[in-house]
Amino acid sequence: MKDIILKTASSQSVIHCGEGSFEKYVSSIDKKQCFVVTDGNLFAVYRHMLWSSFGYNNIILAAGESSKSLTCLKSIFEEMLKCGMQRNCTVVAFGGGVVGDIAGLAASLYMRGVKLVQIPTSLLAQVDSAVGGKTAVDFKNVKNLIGSFYQPEEVIVEPIFLRTLPQREVRCGLGEIIKYGALDGEIFKLLKANSGGLKKPNFIEEVTYLCLKHKAEVVAADERDNSGIRKTLNLGHTTGHAFELFYRRRTHGEFVLAGMYYEMYIAEKLHKCDVNYFGELRKLISEVIKVPSFEDVRSAAKLAVFDKKSADGKICLIVPESEGKCAEITLSEEEYAELLSECAESIRENS
Ligand SMILES: NC(=O)c1ccc[n+]([C@@H]2O[C@H](COP(=O)([O-])OP(=O)(O)OC[C@H]3O[C@@H](n4cnc5c(N)ncnc54)[C@H](O)[C@@H]3O)[C@@H](O)[C@H]2O)c1
Repeated sequence: MKDIILKTASSQSVIHCGEGSFEKYVSSIDKKQCFVVTDGNLFAVYRHMLWSSFGYNNIILAAGESSKSLTCLKSIFEEMLKCGMQRNCTVVAFGGGVVGDIAGLAASLYMRGVKLVQIPTSLLAQVDSAVGGKTAVDFKNVKNLIGSFYQPEEVIVEPIFLRTLPQREVRCGLGEIIKYGALDGEIFKLLKANSGGLKKPNFIEEVTYLCLKHKAEVVAADERDNSGIRKTLNLGHTTGHAFELFYRRRTHGEFVLAGMYYEMYIAEKLHKCDVNYFGELRKLISEVIKVPSFEDVRSAAKLAVFDKKSADGKICLIVPESEGKCAEITLSEEEYAELLSECAESIRENS
């Protein structure tokens, strides 16, 4: 087991990584003060473990993005009140990024803020979303429109939970892992060394630690996404989010990978970039998904204008440049839509 300390101006999070971290955490808590937020899929598999570890104060949300809503947020408050949760309670987010985001927001608001512990169970949540303090719900078709920055006191990254994770959710997490590979030379080297075996548990445990270390350093330097460093974590996300809102059917991480692929095409068209490096990144992406040639990317492009990184009707993209380095590109909506359609066309021609 290894710990990472994430210190920000206002708080400190301890991230416990490795097998046994859950058991160790549970042995230290007062279960009467815990309120668990989880989803139906996880409850079906882990209900007895949750009851014995945390008692019976809980809410079970429907699995999936639709639970990141104000309606569900209200239900969490109602249930916490019904269970008599006081200021000294702990909100335990046991689940993937959906549970983590909404439980984090609930913890930041209930009685002006109560203790939050993240126990991420999906690969995406373990490598990325459970750390960094971004909490949110979606509103009126805009992802993460209503949210807060609120750091968990502890994050328990227990690899055992990944054993029950469906394969498509593993692909989803690999999307974020490859994103970190495009940001961090050490992670990129590890990815290349393990290419062909990216789903192996030993590799996943090792790379998860490195991704979290990278994220903790970035968040410590720019907790509130102000100075620009944290923006780099959005590599692939502007286009990925727009595709996700428009096409829906795939997982978040698959959309991030598709977004990265399309944005790399744009970077290649506009920038000098390291062609060999891009070739290696594309090889890693193709190990996880076959990037689709989306229809009607122009309509999807319109949604990127609402992305939080974009302003004044311009689209802002963070793109890989060379190993361990990325760059920012700003485009008009028209230029962006044109380049996306060119990319979709080139995928069609090559398939
Ligand atoms: N806060 C952040 O910094 C941040 C960063 C990236 C993504 N996100 C958000 O995270 C969300 C996506 O997260 P996600 O991909 O984890 O989705 P998710 O929470 O919907 O989980 C994916 C699916 O896997 C199931 N699942 C999770 N763990 C499981 C396990 N151990 N065994 C069996 N089933 C399991 C869930 O029930 C769900 O059906 C999005 O809403 C995205 O906006 C937040």
